[in-house]
Amino acid sequence: MAIHEYDFLHLQGSATSLILEMRANAPPIWRHWGQKLTAKAMPLANLLDQLPVPTFALDHNIAPTLFPTFGHGWYGAPALLAHRSGTQFAQDFTRCEAHWVTTDHHVIIKLVDDVAQMCVEIDVSLSPQTDVLTLQTRLTNLGETALDVQYCASACLPLPTNACKVRAYSGRHNHEFQLFEDKLSPATWSRENRRGLTSHDCPPCAVVVSDSTDMHQGPAFGLQLAWSGNHSQRIDALDDGGFQWQIAQWLAPGEVILLPGESLMAPIAMATFSNAGLNGVAHNFHAQARKHVTWPTGKMSPRPVHFNTWEGVYFDLNEQALMDMASGAASLGVERFVLDDGWFMGRRHDRAGLGDWWVDRSVFPDGLHPLCAHVTGLGMAFGLWVEPEMVNPDSEVFRAHPDWVLQLNDRPQLTARNQLVLDLSNPEVFDYLQARLVALLEEYPITYLKWDHNRDLTSAGHTETPAYRNQILNAYRLFNAVRQQFPNVEIEACAGGGGRIDAGILMHTHRFWTSDCIDAVSRLSIQRGFLQFFPPELMGSHIGTSPAHVTGRSQSLGFRAAVAMGGHLGLELDPRCLSDGDRQETRAWVGLYKSLRDTLHSGQIWLGVAGDGIIWQAHGHEADFVLMIYRVSPTAQRLPPQVQLSFLSGATDYRVKILSPSACFDASNGEFFSKLARGEAVASGQWVKEIGFPLPFMKAETALILRFSA
Ligand code: GLA
Repeated sequence: MAIHEYDFLHLQGSATSLILEMRANAPPIWRHWGQKLTAKAMPLANLLDQLPVPTFALDHNIAPTLFPTFGHGWYGAPALLAHRSGTQFAQDFTRCEAHWVTTDHHVIIKLVDDVAQMCVEIDVSLSPQTDVLTLQTRLTNLGETALDVQYCASACLPLPTNACKVRAYSGRHNHEFQLFEDKLSPATWSRENRRGLTSHDCPPCAVVVSDSTDMHQGPAFGLQLAWSGNHSQRIDALDDGGFQWQIAQWLAPGEVILLPGESLMAPIAMATFSNAGLNGVAHNFHAQARKHVTWPTGKMSPRPVHFNTWEGVYFDLNEQALMDMASGAASLGVERFVLDDGWFMGRRHDRAGLGDWWVDRSVFPDGLHPLCAHVTGLGMAFGLWVEPEMVNPDSEVFRAHPDWVLQLNDRPQLTARNQLVLDLSNPEVFDYLQARLVALLEEYPITYLKWDHNRDLTSAGHTETPAYRNQILNAYRLFNAVRQQFPNVEIEACAGGGGRIDAGILMHTHRFWTSDCIDAVSRLSIQRGFLQFFPPELMGSHIGTSPAHVTGRSQSLGFRAAVAMGGHLGLELDPRCLSDGDRQETRAWVGLYKSLRDTLHSGQIWLGVAGDGIIWQAHGHEADFVLMIYRVSPTAQRLPPQVQLSFLSGATDYRVKILSPSACFDASNGEFFSKLARGEAVASGQWVKEIGFPLPFMKAETALILRFSA
């Protein structure tokens, strides 16, 4: 596209617009990213013609651009920090071209700095289906000397002057996705993750809202980085009262040195705007994630009821016991049986064995064949746990190849969970892991891998140079290699629960193990954080035992099951230990999940808060949705609150039916609730939207699941 034909580029989503002001000799200026505008609604003038020049300032303004650079007039946070042995530390683009890939939706902006001799190509697309803005940046060294790149942003987005709060997530192992909010101010807001993987404490995502935004309405901007390694995020105030939001991979010193002609491809950033509040952002991100997952058959199959052996038996594996567990699981309605940690050579505890990916014949004398045959004979799929990137010093593979781990000369090796990290940039390591995985997948009828990563990286050197970034790229390559050879295998991303939950790994996987904490109360906040960015069918959520192993808290089976229903349902307990009553009740929940999964895992989800310890979650479509109401804490009021379903249009009326197999209120609550129990209640959509749906008395840690059908 010749630049003179268009002064402004207008990318259009279904409810979002992005407008860039184009200049032939400089990068595009951000003019708008937010509410959809019509093609007619163009800026009144070029930005530099409408901005007055402040005192004590350069004689002409420097505007925020798609890729601002340091050292030649821009005082804000730059998108690039790079130099050539201390020279050409300043960059400023001298040429700009735009090439439509798909008119109005997808454009490639090419920026060249003829002085600093580099080129940046930014692939910008705004999806008309999902309203997600995807940015991917490639930096190329056009010079004749090496370019040392310290920082290269994946996105530099504008936020308007009414942006006032950022909602981000902290946490730890067993406590992922803990929401915190910070007020935006002139101080830079910044987060950095140097743990070498996505991390439990700093996932690469956040949402920015205005003062008036809530779950259901108001402007909200979301951003995430499709990257499973080190990253950083920052929000800086701009001169006009707005903000600039950046997200990037975090590079270790010397990590990217581009030789002449070489390029750096920055991870993809995904951003979205919605005027429908936090749920609007979630809807857009869910729709985008659904586009990204590549299912074995091209389409997601109904998410099978999952069973994982870990909390049931941990390392105490025994072939007969596992078969009994499998029989028990099948009788509960389970459809996929996953053998977790402990099955391979020497892995009787977490101090040995990682890396030796052969079945331990002391536990399984005939390999996994009898167990696989038993599981598949019961009609279940068979899944296996692996942790390919790791090695225990106490393993055959490490004894044979101590040089295979990420390490630094003259530095001690720091173990975590008694393990070290294999250096995937070493081709021998890569080939070894690929061969072991292939051998297992060839020998056994495995259709599912739970792919774990149970430590953070440190001292990650490959022949003394930083290997953090390449470790991730090679891990992606390993996932790809396995998937290409075994396209029918689904993969679950796990890193001590939710340490590797991000849109990058999702391009290679099909499920996340959300957290090692299965306590249903803890899970509610973890799952709600997850659901801000990813859809429920990708969220592994299991019914665990009571008391919960991690917290020691006890919850009823009904509550544990109702919380697990919010995602991809699984069981993680020992079926041999269930009482008859619990077995019957579990079967009922599993049956309910099967009957609802199409509704739970399609359409949209809406999260809400009713006050007085009540939160809720609705899945489906306006005409047919499932409402899960959770009383998290005891009531502080004399009478329960009503649940106002603000997401409805109000145009439809409903039949409302209780679905929860476990009783969560008694008959003394009044005639309406008896009708509800009998499936005879009706509700005006307008009433429940504006006034609310009445609730019975519910004890703390109980849940009510309702179906609303038009
Ligand atoms: C991690 C996972 C668990 C389990 C163990 C096995 O902690 O999150 O689910 O697989 O590893 O060691």
